[in-house]
Amino acid sequence: MENKIEHIKNEAVKELATASDKESIKALSVRYLGRKGVITQFLRNIPGLPPEERPVAGKKANEAKKFLDAAFNEALKELERASAADDRIDVSLPGRTPSRGFLHPITEITRQICDIFTRLGFDIAEGPEVEKDYYNFEALNIPKNHPARDMQDTFYVSEDIVLRTHTSPIQVRVMEKQEPPVRVIAPGKVYRCDSDLTHTPMFHQVEGLLVDENISFGDLKGMLTTFVHQMFDTRTSLRFRPSFFPFTEPSAEVDILCVMCRGKGCRVCSQTGWLEVLGSGMVHPAVFEYAKYDTARYTGFAFGMGVERIAMLKYGIDDIRKFFENDFRFLRQF
Ligand code: FA5
Ligand code: MG
Repeated sequence: MENKIEHIKNEAVKELATASDKESIKALSVRYLGRKGVITQFLRNIPGLPPEERPVAGKKANEAKKFLDAAFNEALKELERASAADDRIDVSLPGRTPSRGFLHPITEITRQICDIFTRLGFDIAEGPEVEKDYYNFEALNIPKNHPARDMQDTFYVSEDIVLRTHTSPIQVRVMEKQEPPVRVIAPGKVYRCDSDLTHTPMFHQVEGLLVDENISFGDLKGMLTTFVHQMFDTRTSLRFRPSFFPFTEPSAEVDILCVMCRGKGCRVCSQTGWLEVLGSGMVHPAVFEYAKYDTARYTGFAFGMGVERIAMLKYGIDDIRKFFENDFRFLRQF
């Protein structure tokens, strides 16, 4: 009898050792200790034993029952402890790098341009994108019906309101508020009905205006050359080409040697070897009249550069429209 109960106990312990989940441990518990379980059956059969064996058999069976009950419970607890440990954070695992945002290349270049000019002593000014005809044209010496209006294809909002076609209206707004000396740059979006490899209907300009006593065209040349050398490098070729703007006299456009073909001529520079990046000139006295500046005392220069053009040259991009297609594979490169 004693051997039989010992045997049952050992079998149960062996089976428990191979039970790896909750369900199989519970099943074992039922099979041995349940109402129809092996040990329970054994206890029930004790009255049928010879009287002298009954006490020992009862004692042994109860001990085995207690022992197995404790073993099953301990096994279940152990499983729970193990799964709780699985849920803990393993601080030694390598982390997942969160993806970081980045600036649009045009924002990046605008900031670089502004940094260069603020180091040269310029303040930053701003103006509205929906602008009065007066600031965009009239006060810049471009009266209504003047042929110079055709230089820019304008989006009209109404008779007197336009989407600004350049950042030059900010010049007028600054001069209205401030007496010379003036030294400002003004970055912003501008709009023209225009689209091809080097033109988009919305693009960015940075305007510059410097007014003081004794300012000459030499100062303009020196300032813009310094800028180009800081933006690109000191070996970058640039040229001042005579031009016309109603609000400057004399006027010049600045071209940079095409980085795509190194001046040989390609589709980006329309086979000229050069790419126009900005317009500039000495502020026309008529513009100073609108601002009520003393034209006998003050002179000044102004310029307006295309940010996308500078970005194209800096990054070697052959189609300006890529900046605004929002293709992540393109934008991520910068
Ligand atoms: C002007 O807008 C003048 N306001 C510049 C100026 C300011 C002259 C102050 C004198 C004094 P222009 O239309 O040439 O000029 O444009 C200036 C620059 O903007 C160009 O050199 C070119 O780099 C850029 N640009 C012009 N049109 C577009 C366009 N559709 N898309 C992208 N860039 C353009
Ligand atoms: Mg031009």
